[in-house]
Amino acid sequence: MSRLKVGVLFGGCSGEHEVSIMSAASVYKNLDPQRYDPMAIGISKKGHWFLIKDPRRVFDGGAIDADENIPVTLLGQPVEKPFVSLEGIPQDQPDVIFPVLHGPYGEDGTIQGLLDLAGIPYVGAGVLASSVGMDKEMMKKVFRQAGLPVVNDVTVMRYSVENDIGAVIDNIVNGIGYPCFVKPANLGSSVGISKAENSKELKKALLEASMFDSKLVVEEGVDAREIECSVLGNNFPKASLPGEIIPSADFYDYNAKYISGDSRLIIPASLTEGQRKEIQDLAIKVFKAIDCSGLGRVDFFILKDSGEIYVNEINTMPGFTKISMYPKLWEETGLPYGELLTKLVELAFERNADRKRNRISHQ
Ligand SMILES: Nc1ncnc2c1ncn2[C@@H]1O[C@H](COP(=O)(O)OP(=O)(O)O)[C@@H](O)[C@H]1O
Ligand SMILES: [Mg+2]
Repeated sequence: MSRLKVGVLFGGCSGEHEVSIMSAASVYKNLDPQRYDPMAIGISKKGHWFLIKDPRRVFDGGAIDADENIPVTLLGQPVEKPFVSLEGIPQDQPDVIFPVLHGPYGEDGTIQGLLDLAGIPYVGAGVLASSVGMDKEMMKKVFRQAGLPVVNDVTVMRYSVENDIGAVIDNIVNGIGYPCFVKPANLGSSVGISKAENSKELKKALLEASMFDSKLVVEEGVDAREIECSVLGNNFPKASLPGEIIPSADFYDYNAKYISGDSRLIIPASLTEGQRKEIQDLAIKVFKAIDCSGLGRVDFFILKDSGEIYVNEINTMPGFTKISMYPKLWEETGLPYGELLTKLVELAFERNADRKRNRISHQ
């Protein structure tokens, strides 16, 4: 049987561009060579797509838009060959796309919408789950509606910050108090997130987050352990053993996540049997609450004083390097990295086949 072509799509115009390249390098190198023939498709920071000639070069820091790479695009129509070269060169077609994209324009439903229009199966969540999972305000609304425990927060629009920052600060102090966390609503990897302990820090935090998004979420700060759980599947998702993050800084900011190298992942997390079970049950409920498919990493807070458990967020395309939490947790649960990739590709085809069953006419 010929090997399936897997388009590993990465980069993109998001603050998590570099993280995406790191994840994609691992995915590209570890797809089962017996079954799959990977194609590296990079999206530049400006949003232009390229078929990468020598992926190692890009994974080692080379430019996605270098001259040697072929400008390509995907047509949003279910034609026989939707993957086209802008220079008219005949192109191999990917059988399935693995969007290893984090953040806006990748993890938020936009790419998923294009792939749906093109009729190509793809790994991970569809349009709705991706966009709900990306937008911290909407995500928390859905979690609350599903009866899932979340920390108090208020939504702040950038235009309010620009119009009357004093009133915004008063509102936050009355509703949330200090310490609080200010976050761009649609981002990840802690980009643009700050902790504020007083009005001066809050002002700075609001201005900082406003550079990344027009909507912000300001959340009550909690003193908590950070526990993460990986979920895998479509209609019958399974949860991995949970892991714990010990950030190298006051909180798990961008530097602690990717730069310092001093943050620690404890796998599996040291939990009581009851806590582990509760986390795993909640992780699956979270996954189902947003109608997720394929994969999702669900992150929790366990309050240090009371032991109460809160859902922090779901990531529909979590960090995916070999040493990232999502695949590490599966490895610990008995599913090695390469086999995890195979399972994800199979789930992509399963989901696509299920969608194709839908009638599009009532006649
Ligand atoms: N309400 C909170 N209380 C305490 N720490 C928080 C809170 N919200 C976020 N953090 C810290 O900031 C980090 C990043 O926040 P998170 O909401 O997970 O954003 P991202 O989507 O960028 O990962 C968390 O891992 C945690 O360390
Ligand atoms: Mg997070």
